[in-house]
Amino acid sequence: MSTLITNIGELLTQDREQAVLKDAAVVFEGERISWIGAASDAPAADERVDAGGRAGLPGWVDSHTHLVFAGDRTAEFEARMAGEVYAAGGIAVTTNATRAASDYDLTRLLLGRVAEANAGGTTYLETKTGYGLDVGHEARSARIAAGVVDEVTYLGAHLVPAGVDPEDYVRLVCGPMLDAVRPFVTWADVFCERGAFTAEQSREILRTCRDSGLGLRVHGNQLGHGEGVQLAVEFGAASVDHVNHLTGADLDALAGTWSGWDPGSGSGVRGTVATCLPACDLSTRQPLAPGRELLDAGVEIALASNCNPGTSYTTSMAYCVTTAVLQMRLSVHEAVRAATFGGALALHRETGVDDDGLRAVGSLAVGHRADLQLLNAPAATHLAYRPGVPLTHAVWKQGARIV
Ligand code: NIG
Repeated sequence: MSTLITNIGELLTQDREQAVLKDAAVVFEGERISWIGAASDAPAADERVDAGGRAGLPGWVDSHTHLVFAGDRTAEFEARMAGEVYAAGGIAVTTNATRAASDYDLTRLLLGRVAEANAGGTTYLETKTGYGLDVGHEARSARIAAGVVDEVTYLGAHLVPAGVDPEDYVRLVCGPMLDAVRPFVTWADVFCERGAFTAEQSREILRTCRDSGLGLRVHGNQLGHGEGVQLAVEFGAASVDHVNHLTGADLDALAGTWSGWDPGSGSGVRGTVATCLPACDLSTRQPLAPGRELLDAGVEIALASNCNPGTSYTTSMAYCVTTAVLQMRLSVHEAVRAATFGGALALHRETGVDDDGLRAVGSLAVGHRADLQLLNAPAATHLAYRPGVPLTHAVWKQGARIV
């Protein structure tokens, strides 16, 4: 089955050349993109969709979420808006509610959140464990997530549960808990922050998870200056996420990881992506991550929703893009790139064509996965120009229309 989407007014490919095509068309053949070019040159296909001059771009790649949870933290949010400061302790509230939920309810809640993300144009999703915090519940969260989302990250190191000795807990995270989640996850993460895990504890967890074959990411420098970024660089982590409080040395260290990378050809060694989470920054009243400074320093960045019940209860990548433009001083094209190609880079999914079965996501090129969204607007600039307006018109995921 082939589908021709034609009469696309502006197509942001996010390919190696960052091509923006006017009056463009795309052809999907099954789950892959088989042709891109000028609408006037497009080949025939089984099905023809007229985009009506709308803007097209890759589906969003949301590389940082915490979607496996039950319960509600409205009261905590209200208290924060009234002046209370966010602290990691709220994680325990969600952990209690998540443990109490049945498999059926947890799965239903997760599916609802994924459907909401899809409806907003997200076509590739990572999610984390981290609200189970004992062997059985972490394994359950990982198993449920693996059946629903594209990438699952082990975040047993989210918080030390009340009443548990921190060193005993680190041993659990590195031992029986890791063994139990291992069949379901490809990434490991650690919340390296005051009130969560120290740099030494984080180092031990990252080392053990790396040795078990997992890719690494770090929650770092969210609530204050700390060692998260330096740790992520030391371990060659795929991403360090939050990055609200950076020193010059942190910026330099991140930039150094990208010195051997050529974004044009994609050749060289990938560095550590700095993942900015603007919806979280606003909801916790933290300083916005310095996305502009990171880009200017040569660091590849991603934008992600960080959807979770405590600090960022939104699946909207469009909202993140809007905020990045209006408040972090990214151009629309930079923000869209960070929310598509940047997310793919953070998940090591920006390459791959045709025969390896793992087609690239986050950019539109022949052989890449057929994930595309059309906006109800003639140009992507409307994402920031018309803030808060739901602009998703149509979404294709793996070649199938889902919106
Ligand atoms: O990314 N920083 C740690 N984890 C989440 C918050 C989790 C919560 O408060 O429930 C975050 O912001």
